[in-house]
Amino acid sequence: MAVAYNKRTHSCGELRTSEIDKTVTLAGWVNTSRDHGGMTFVDLRDHEGLTQLRFNPQLGSAHGVARTLHNEDVIAVTGRVVSRGEFVNAKLATGEIEVEVNDIEVLSRCDALPFQVHDKIDTSEELLLRYRYLHLRRPEVQKVFRMRHTIARAIREYFHDNRFIEIETPFLTKSTPEGARDYLVPSRVQPGSFFALPQSPQLFKQLFMIAGFDRYAQIVRCFRDEDLRADRQPEFTQLDMEMAFVERDDVMTMVEGCVQRIFKDALNIDVPVPFARMTEQESMDRFGIDRPDTRYGMELQDVSALMKDVDFRVFRNALDGGGVVKCLVAPGGAALTRKVTDGLTEEIKGIGGTGLPIVKVIEGEKGIELSTGVAKFLQPIAVKLCEQVGASVGDAIFFMPGTFADVSKYLHYTRTRLATILDVIPKNRWDLLWVVDFPLVVWDEDAKRWCSTHHPFTAPIDEDVAMLDTDPGKVRDKAYDLVLNGTEMAGGSIRIHQREVQSKIFRLLGISDEEAKEKFEFLLDALRFGAPPHGGIAFGLDRWVMLLSGSQSLRDVIAFPKTQRAICPLTNAPGTVSDAQLDELFLTVKPLPKK
Ligand code: AMO
Repeated sequence: MAVAYNKRTHSCGELRTSEIDKTVTLAGWVNTSRDHGGMTFVDLRDHEGLTQLRFNPQLGSAHGVARTLHNEDVIAVTGRVVSRGEFVNAKLATGEIEVEVNDIEVLSRCDALPFQVHDKIDTSEELLLRYRYLHLRRPEVQKVFRMRHTIARAIREYFHDNRFIEIETPFLTKSTPEGARDYLVPSRVQPGSFFALPQSPQLFKQLFMIAGFDRYAQIVRCFRDEDLRADRQPEFTQLDMEMAFVERDDVMTMVEGCVQRIFKDALNIDVPVPFARMTEQESMDRFGIDRPDTRYGMELQDVSALMKDVDFRVFRNALDGGGVVKCLVAPGGAALTRKVTDGLTEEIKGIGGTGLPIVKVIEGEKGIELSTGVAKFLQPIAVKLCEQVGASVGDAIFFMPGTFADVSKYLHYTRTRLATILDVIPKNRWDLLWVVDFPLVVWDEDAKRWCSTHHPFTAPIDEDVAMLDTDPGKVRDKAYDLVLNGTEMAGGSIRIHQREVQSKIFRLLGISDEEAKEKFEFLLDALRFGAPPHGGIAFGLDRWVMLLSGSQSLRDVIAFPKTQRAICPLTNAPGTVSDAQLDELFLTVKPLPKK
């Protein structure tokens, strides 16, 4: 029997007792079906919810059809809304009613499913991605994408309200240096030449400022060929913005307003402004990382001075070599088992360290004592140590000797792991933090040259400019990174708007005048023709959705993501192409190395 599926009267999440006795038309997917005492019941699902359908054998042929249904068949029905009486399902918004079906039309049948949509039985990610549209049917997954829409809309509206305009930037372009590898696209028309997909619209948005647009914001795809992690995808989305005639505070204040709007619209939470600020140096000192999770303590503490008098070769060697000894106190850590602490030590070795000296603070006969690990070396300074680092009986202290960079890396790792092991991360807490005053450049020992901490267009702090020639490593930049609960959510800066300064920075970075001309001539040119002071920022939109929706991976918040191996199991991309296509591009593929 044909049912007018294009004239649905309600969604599957809408019907309540007020609609009892009305005739309605619904359409959707069979979530589940079951037979009970001659009746057939079907839970019908659409984007809004579930409605129970009842098929009574006494009411014509619909019941016969219902008995042939399988999960995920697509049907449309017409029927009467009736009360469920004593069989109310309090868990369902529509649980007080059901629809007694008169007519049913099967619009499309579903084959044997690779996994059930309605249940959450563990399924391999490969399978979930291969049949992504089935996974996307799940209500909890749809919820995430609705939140994604809410966040994107909040951002668009906010910037529109603040007189930004959205202008698109090219995808087929030249390399934009954000530090990753480029995805390349061969040109057919210019054989032997390649476009690079943009790692960000950085240079184009600067050109918009030089072009006089004053305020630009765009939600835009970026492409980076880098090692993938839970918070990195090869193509991801940025909210990219730029403003003319601004200083750091102007951009940061504008961003804070946007973040407030995102939290309000997505979670109905009011976040206070201004956000906390910390210099990169302080962040490294206290947390060993430039994107600290400030929701919990266990901060890094420098105990180098105290360790000078301790007869422990490992610490002594580090200090004699110009390094440091730092530690962190794990509250209640004395209860950690040997298995856990040994496991942590192994993990530290796994990421390049040599060990993780530990002591536990216990109540001895004569007061505070240290036990296990390196206790025998530190016992003479036990009281002083515990006083200085704020450790009490029942705590554990984890140490790390070495260079500042190594100590930071390994203790940051330890702190993060301990936070999970000791379960100290508060729930429902949102710590927003600006990290500022990064070094403009850092020395890359392998490449033997200075590299930008952010990108080469970041302006140095005015009072540090003089040190560009004498002590570049001391020059701080006008960048700002926004961190939420330990994840870098956005990064930006005030840009260089003077050609001479830009050329100077290129030279400092070891980019020769010829290379600068080849790669960035258009920017250097533009800087000759009246560039206003300008600055901006880019948010990782996917990361915002990930954190605010409580998802574990970017793959959960991108409709068609790539796997860890940068492939798409749904489309099987990337794939090989025909010889004819290669010929057209004047390309040959080298034989792959044997595995
Ligand atoms: P940056 O490289 O810091 O800055 O990128 C800005 C923000 O984008 C997000 N992000 C990513 N998200 C998912 N997968 C990735 N592979 C990935 N890489 C970066 C992060 C990051 O904070 N042009 C500059 C911005 C500017 O200076 O205005 C830029 O792209 O959340």
